[in-house]
Amino acid sequence: MAKKDAEPTDSAEEKPFEEEYTDIKDLPGVGATIASKLKSAGYVDMIALATANPMDVIEVCEIGEPTAKKIIAEAREAAKMNFLSGLEFEEKRKAVQRISTGSNALDILLGGGVESQAITECYGEFGSGKSQIAFQLTVNVQLPKEKGGLDGHAIWIDTEGTFRPARIEQLAKVKGIDPKEVLQNIKVGRAYSSDHQILLVDKIPDLINKDPKIKLVVVDSMMSLFRAEYVGRGTLADRQQKLNVILHNLQRLADRFNIAIYITNQVMARPDMMFGDPTAPVGGHIIGHVATYRIYLRKGKKGLRVARLVDSPSLPEGEATFQIGTDGITDVEEEGTAKKTK
Ligand code: GTP
Ligand code: MG
Repeated sequence: MAKKDAEPTDSAEEKPFEEEYTDIKDLPGVGATIASKLKSAGYVDMIALATANPMDVIEVCEIGEPTAKKIIAEAREAAKMNFLSGLEFEEKRKAVQRISTGSNALDILLGGGVESQAITECYGEFGSGKSQIAFQLTVNVQLPKEKGGLDGHAIWIDTEGTFRPARIEQLAKVKGIDPKEVLQNIKVGRAYSSDHQILLVDKIPDLINKDPKIKLVVVDSMMSLFRAEYVGRGTLADRQQKLNVILHNLQRLADRFNIAIYITNQVMARPDMMFGDPTAPVGGHIIGHVATYRIYLRKGKKGLRVARLVDSPSLPEGEATFQIGTDGITDVEEEGTAKKTK
């Protein structure tokens, strides 16, 4: 894929490896008025517009067919909806960056930390540490690269009202970075419904456009609103469809902006399971299909936490033990090594 010069960044390697994000209003033949009509109809970004049906665009924008077709063609060109060669694909993979979790053992389990261009899902029972990992990543992403960070900023989509500025400040102090500055570098969006959650995700390209240092998006938690709103089997298909859209949007953001996505998920009891751990992540198979890394978190002995890597495309399954304390996520002395089980 052809590289264009994008926003100025402090080092060459930080340049986005893909195209600069262009707002649909900048497309030839669009402009502010049509763009605002398109956006309010859900065509919020280039790919949404590129895959639009011309008849819908005609109706939404009250424009003629040739104009609608031209706009869609321009969007397709801008969205670069073409194939990558194997070599280009390899180039893109080279741009992958990792954020340290704070535990060496957990980082090793994940192949070096939480990856950009990927969705990492963490599921486990209440109090298992899913949100604590999110807090730690939100602070750690702001560290310099030599300290396990990306010198980056973060977005936090909070669906349960669990974002705690005080905890962020505490973790920032432990890392020796300015707590207020760390908070300043986090954009928090509180979602009140699943539709609101979808809208907040749609706003992310705008936020990154304004702040290209954003390198991490947290969704804590992914399913709670969907789960609360869609009770009963009758509406399950509708829920899964929406979930599918939001997850694919997140994956697209990860790819396009080379950012890491960390989502948390709850578990439900599986009464059908007689042996082993009778819990499963909420959301059915959809999250499992989209998430690149799935971590199952459980409480271990003496307040420790055990993370198990489930279904990873390229890493062996295994477990890592770490601890959560006032200082955040850290290794367990002596035992802090990842054990491969396969
Ligand atoms: P749910 O959101 O309820 O499903 O749980 P979760 O998996 O997000 O749990 P969370 O990350 O909030 O973990 C909370 C746990 O972290 C507590 O039960 C403590 O065991 C542990 N913890 C240890 N030290 C601290 C600390 O200094 N502050 C906080 N907030 N938690 C700590
Ligand atoms: Mg939580």
